[in-house]
Formats: sequence, C-alpha cells, structure tokens
Amino acid sequence: MRQLSLVPILIVFALFPAIAQPARPVITIKTEHVGLTLAVGADGRLYQAGFGPAESSLRIPGGSPAREVEAYPPYGNGQITEPSLKVVHADGNTSTDLFYVSHRAVESGGGRVETRIDLRDGHYPLQVTLCFRAYSSEDVIEQWVAIEHQEEKPIVLERFGSSSPVFQASGYWLTQLEGNYMREAHLVEERLTPGIKVLDSKLGIRAHQMRNPSFILAIDEPAREESGAVFGASLAWSGSFQFAFDVDWNNRLRAVCGINPLGSSYRLDPRTVFRTPSMLWTFSPQGKGGMTRNFHRWARKYGIRDGSAPRPILLNNWEATHFDFDETKIVSLFDGARDLGVELFLLDDGWFGNKHPRNNDRAGLGDWQVNEKKLPHGLSHLAAEAQKRGVNFGIWIEPEMVNPASELYEKHPDWVITQAHREPLYGRNQMILDLTRPEVQAHVRKVIDDTFGPNPGIRYTKWDCNRYVTQPGSSYLPPERQEHLLVDYQLALYDAMKYMADRYPGVMAMVCAGGSGRVDYGALRYFHGFWPSDNTDPVQRVFIQWGFSHFFPAPAISAHVTDMGRRPAKFAVDVALSGAFGIDRDVSKMSAEERKTVIAGARLYKERLRPLVLGGDLYRLQSPYDRPQAALSYVSPDRTRAVVFIYRLGEEAFPAIKPRGLDAAKKYRVREINLPEGARSRLSINDQVLDGATLMENGFSAPLRRAVESAVIELTEEEAQ
Ligand code: GLA
Repeated sequence: MRQLSLVPILIVFALFPAIAQPARPVITIKTEHVGLTLAVGADGRLYQAGFGPAESSLRIPGGSPAREVEAYPPYGNGQITEPSLKVVHADGNTSTDLFYVSHRAVESGGGRVETRIDLRDGHYPLQVTLCFRAYSSEDVIEQWVAIEHQEEKPIVLERFGSSSPVFQASGYWLTQLEGNYMREAHLVEERLTPGIKVLDSKLGIRAHQMRNPSFILAIDEPAREESGAVFGASLAWSGSFQFAFDVDWNNRLRAVCGINPLGSSYRLDPRTVFRTPSMLWTFSPQGKGGMTRNFHRWARKYGIRDGSAPRPILLNNWEATHFDFDETKIVSLFDGARDLGVELFLLDDGWFGNKHPRNNDRAGLGDWQVNEKKLPHGLSHLAAEAQKRGVNFGIWIEPEMVNPASELYEKHPDWVITQAHREPLYGRNQMILDLTRPEVQAHVRKVIDDTFGPNPGIRYTKWDCNRYVTQPGSSYLPPERQEHLLVDYQLALYDAMKYMADRYPGVMAMVCAGGSGRVDYGALRYFHGFWPSDNTDPVQRVFIQWGFSHFFPAPAISAHVTDMGRRPAKFAVDVALSGAFGIDRDVSKMSAEERKTVIAGARLYKERLRPLVLGGDLYRLQSPYDRPQAALSYVSPDRTRAVVFIYRLGEEAFPAIKPRGLDAAKKYRVREINLPEGARSRLSINDQVLDGATLMENGFSAPLRRAVESAVIELTEEEAQ
C-alpha cells in the first residue's frame, strides 16, 4: 500500500485568490496517486498550482499569483525565469504572451485520460496546446506541446520545451545517467544550487552516448531507494535534448525539458503543427524504487514494443567473430546453439558489400547486398540452416549510414550530412545519410524491404547507429531551413522505424547505437529492447544495467554472457539472467565447464526465471554505489514468487540482504538456484520456509565468500498444508 499521508506536502503554491470563481478553471491531470494541477489566474494566464501526490496537488490556497509559476512561460512576457517557448513572429517581434482559451479532457480507454489546454497569444494568431495523457494505474503523466499559427509568413521557433513544471521545496537533488561508450548509464547525484544546471546532448543522432535523456529529481533530501519523494522523468526523443534546471531567488525550481534548441531553430509555416516529443513524468513517495516500478509498469504496457512478450534467448556472433566469418563459420556457430538453449541466432555486422566488402569498419556500409564470397547462398539459406538446427535467425543493419568506400557513396555523394567548405569529418570511417532527403528516406525503406521482404526466415534485427553528427549541414534543405536538419532527421527516422515495425511485425528488433546511444521511449515504441553497452564485462554490466534499470524494464535490457573481463562463467551468467538473457560466445571455444554453466543458466531462464525477471516488480536491495556488492530482486505481481540476484564485487563482508515487496503473510521456501553441479549452498536459510515478514525484517547474508562471486536465490510461496 502506498502511504500518501506520510509524504511531505510537495509543491503547492499560494497563488489563486480567485480560484473559487467558476470562470477561472482549475485543471487537474490526475492518475491514481499523482496529480498535476493547473489553474487560470486572474490575468488569464495559465499557472501551475501543484505537482506531486494526487491529493495535495489539489489544494490551492489563497494568495497572489507569482509569475514564476506560469505553466508554459514564453519569452518576453514579463516572466523572467527560464522560458519554455521562444518565438520570432513573422514581423520580427520576439515576444509571446499566452492566455488560456479552453480545455477538454477525453478518456482514451484503459484508464487513460487525454487533456488538451489551448492557449493563445494576446496579439498574434499563435496557438499553443498543452497536451497531457494521464496513465491512471501506472501513475505516469505524459506531456507534449502542439504549436500552430496563422501569421502571414513563417514564424521561427527558437525554443520549444515539451514540459516545464515548477517545484517548491527546501532542496532538490538531481540524478543523471551519464557516461560514454563502454561506461554507460552511471548514476551521478548532486544538489541543485541557485542558477541553471543544464543536462543535454548536442550529438543529433546516437545522441545519448554520453547521457541518457532521463533524470531523477528528489525533493527535500537526496534520493533514497524505497522512501522519500522522488520524481522521475524521461524524454521520448532519440535526438539532442536539453533539460534546464533553473533554481530561482525563491528557491523554486523550474525544469524546462525538451529538444535541445541549439542549432535547431524551426521555421514554422502557417497552419502547420509543430509537435514536441513527449516528456514522461512519474512521482513516487517510495523513493527511486517506487518511481522505477511506475516506469516499468508503464513501459511494459505502452512504452516498448510488445512489452509483455517473452524475449528469445539470443546468440550473437559479434564478440565471437567480429567481421571475420563466412558461411561455414556461421553455420558452425548454429551447431550446438540449440544445445546451449539458444532460441535465436543474431548475425552481426559484416555480412554485406561486394565491390567494397564489409571486412572491417572502413568499407561497405550502404551496400546492403549479401557478400557473395562470405555467404554465397544468401540470407534465406542461413535462416533455413539455423531453423534446421532449431533456432531462429536475425540480422544486424545500420541503414542510416554510408562508408565513403561504398557503391552507394560513389553514386550519391550528395546524400550525406556535411557542411559545405569544411573538411568532412568521419566517425568510425562513416558518414550519415541525410534522412530529410526524400530519396534517402526511400533508400532506407528499400534496405528494409530488400532485407526482410525476400527473407521471411529473418525473425530479428539489430538496428545500429555508430556515429553522431559533427557537421549538421544538409545539401537538401534550403538555406533558411538548415537548422531543421536534426529535428526533421528524427521525424524521418521514426517514420522509417515505424515502417519496419508495421510492415514486418514478425521481425523483433533491438535498438543499438554503438551501445546505448539511442535509448529512449521515442525509439523503444518500435523496438523490443536495446543494447546497453559494448562493455559486456559482467562486473561493469552490474553498474550499467543498474543505471538503466531506473527507467527501463528488464525485457528492454539485453544482457549477454560473453568472455569480456575473463570473469567466472557463473558470474557472467548470473548477471545476464537479470535482464533479457543472451550469449555472445563462440560455442566451440568454450570449455566443457563453461558450456555446462551457460547451458544450466539458459535452461533456468527458460524454465523458471524468464516471466519473473521480465514481468516482475524490480526491487534494488543493495546498491553497488554504496558498497562493492549489488543485490536486486524481481517479485511476481501476485507476490507468490521472487528471485534475488546477488553480485559480490569486493572482498569485504556485508550486511544482510533484505528482500522487499514480498507478501508479509505468505510463506516462502527459500532456495539458492543455479549452483554449480554438485555444489552445496552456503545460504544459511537455504531450503527453509519463512514468512514474508520475517524475510523482509531479518534478511539473509549473501552466501558468497569472495569478489566476483554471485548467487541467485529463489523464493516460492509454500501453500499452507
Ligand atoms: C556497434 C555495436 C556492436 C556491434 C558493432 C558492429 O559497436 O554496439 O554491438 O554491433 O557495432 O559493427
């Protein structure tokens, strides 16, 4: 049960003396436990009255409206904190002043309510519609903004936030997921001080290489795992983003969140709608854990493709072969894949290009014809060979890219993103195709059709993207619309992804961008999961998966057993078992012992753990940021089963691990599973039956003796006899 009464009253502003007058609407966007309240002030502008626990956000005491809490402050209307919108009107006027016109709320099924609030400029024919979708039982509020005008000529949008709520508290602690290639999603928390703190990406595409577009905002105290008031937010946008946290002179915080406006001013034609991407918000009085579980419930239902469907056990060949393979080698990898427990083989980079064969990363991107030397019988043959051995087949693509050493580039050198009069800059020897150009859009659709159309045996794809934008110029866009490039690119990219998902619904898909450079709920609508990192050393993966788990559920987080870091096979398996399990190893190079360990892990996943891990509620029990040991668990929604994963990273001994989320009254049998053959568990309560209350109160010591050891503990309800 959520105990809202214990939660400090959060964000309630003393603003609205005249709220009682019916002519001044109060608009509440409300889920079961979270509310965002907006109200029209005496001046006709729209203000935010509350955001946080549903009940308290409805309280609007008397007082004078403060301009700093305008709901969507435009630049130039007298409001002086960070603006959400900046418009240059057709006549050059740089100011905008928005007033409430009307609002309406419509139920859209499944406990979802969509609310639209129309605002209009006091002088110019400019409409701004604030749009909200409240997901009642998931406690998520989605916000986006639609902008339209009827001025005589185009207007220029220089800023266009998706959402800009205001908070009032004694202090704010911001946590971001920062990193870089090979060390993604590391949590960094800091206290916000007066002034502006900006978290952003300017990379255009593969935009999240150094920072995920999500954050945690803890109120009044640093974020705790299972208590304390915490907001979580994530922008559904795969491009450059900007979150500006502006703490003002009254210690109010405004968070302006949306597309990064830098280099992206947008000329909007009359009667054309500009829709910002969605910002997703949740709030929990139960700390980061509650916030996470809200996001996960929402994501499985609405945020990721087929979020509740089981994920197949993948065998990927990238780390096993890199570019160095041929048909015989690949078919040999199929051999034994099924014995390992694998359900799908994913052929990675290197299968295409003839004039410029893709034998390394210097050539071939763009030429999506099967390399006849390496794979003389084509993709359908490979898929059939895989199927003969009882596994499905999938394939890697990177359709937005081109190597200068390719037939595509020889034919269409003008299709790439680059700036005139500048020496072209390459990233991994490749250039980005300009997706704003209709011919490029058609090319990408053709790559999709030519790959999946004639090869219905392909059941999976990994869509990669291995560089970011450094020279944002388009030879297609006219001079005055050059800055549309990054926004229009993303929109065209989503069209292409949607095309693939709609046209080939039987092809499951993983989004990758040199690791997790494209992990967000804009892309995940079209993908079943993402590749968190090329760093598959399981010790590093404990941290990387931990970071992503705050916003993304296990079915989205691909976790493969590899040889990186040369860690004990059991440790690698146990880390991978806590996500969408897979393997990236050459079966023939594994020792008999390793094979046994991987086979046992895959069997366990299939037979016992998969639905629990993919569909359970996540409880993070011990953070690797606090001590060199991590523990996390998944609890089935009916609380009859749970699994606890423990990873010891250092030598010290640690306090008891206390499970959470169990039913206090239920009795659970506790068993360590995935033990090496013949090994006895060191778990003191192994095979005992204990009630949930005792387990949660007393916990148990990790049955681990040294660093880089792991344990998997299963709790199963024992029915009363
Ligand atoms: C990126 C991906 C890897 C692999 C290579 C192939 O680096 O993150 O997993 O697919 O590309 O070139």
